[in-house]
Amino acid sequence: MKINNIPTRTIRPVAETRAVDVIDQTALPHAYRTQRLSSLEDAAHAIRSMQVRGAPLIGVTAAYGVALALARKDDEGTLSAAIATLAATRPTAVNLRWALARMQSHLAAVPVGARANAAWQEASAIAEEDVDQCRRIGDHGLDLLRPLAARRGRLDLMTHCNAGWLATVDFGTALAPIYAAFDAGIDVRVWVSETRPRNQGLLTAWELKQHGVPHTLIADNATGLLLSRGEVDAVIVGADRIAANADVANKVGTYLKALAAREAGVPFYVAAPRSTIDFTCPDGNAIPIEERSGDELRVIPGVDNSGHPGAIRQFPADEAVANPAFDVTPARLVSTIITERGSCPATPDGLLKLYPEESHA
Ligand code: MRU
Repeated sequence: MKINNIPTRTIRPVAETRAVDVIDQTALPHAYRTQRLSSLEDAAHAIRSMQVRGAPLIGVTAAYGVALALARKDDEGTLSAAIATLAATRPTAVNLRWALARMQSHLAAVPVGARANAAWQEASAIAEEDVDQCRRIGDHGLDLLRPLAARRGRLDLMTHCNAGWLATVDFGTALAPIYAAFDAGIDVRVWVSETRPRNQGLLTAWELKQHGVPHTLIADNATGLLLSRGEVDAVIVGADRIAANADVANKVGTYLKALAAREAGVPFYVAAPRSTIDFTCPDGNAIPIEERSGDELRVIPGVDNSGHPGAIRQFPADEAVANPAFDVTPARLVSTIITERGSCPATPDGLLKLYPEESHA
């Protein structure tokens, strides 16, 4: 995708050194800046502090984090310590564990001493695959969106959080079909929910604007009204973990949108790559839900009228606050899951038909 018309990716290897540059998403949408990650600690901090965020991008960053650790010291202890450090950064998005497991099993076949290069190549392969998978999600999603657009000669979609290219290496998951529809000439408009408390909707608005996709930001609480008024043709979101029974964990607030969409008879699509599907997790009850700091509700970052960054305290420090960062949408509320291999009903069989290699008799 493009920033100021220049093609870019969210994570980019730096030439002639072992480092990657990422977009610091904590500065967006007010400022665009990059952050260089040169060590395991840099990578772990970037994930923990949400400089990088979004399930697929967290996984890719973790893979590079392993490679950065081995670039400093290639031994067994460094590898296992790096994996443990990165695994502890964020609990819900399974792409993190998926990427670490893949790095671990790939490196197990490589002798100590040759693992630094092998790790770098494997992390790069994971990044490239993510790009390819997201592009395919866009194509498969477009197949679903075309008939909806044909009905009215335009397409009004709603999304939540940021499941765009900022949340992946490129293209995005939920936003990939939207970009594909826009690029195919469909008159598409997007309702972007703010996504309190961290306001990832502002990231979605920012990237849609970069691509020229018409969109309107709404408060999270406006969702029900717009759906009930018939102003939405489909809701499309990403996922942080899809359980084997097709329950979907995604940014908190997703479940309420699914309920409202069901009540309004509007399709509710979930777009995610293989790395988001956890076939070892039986159902949504088994998905760990991240609890984040109450200060994300108490204190709002932004810029003042002169553009200077700052923060406003909404609530006193001693105000009791709960901040679960994700919720679980039961499979029965999901119309279709869109993956890089195609679309399927949100059922265990649907997932296994797309990924038959996961059927263990
Ligand atoms: O807490 P975040 O910003 O990492 O959460 C991200 C989301 O919930 C996204 O919607 C999800 O990861 C899908 S990303 C393609």
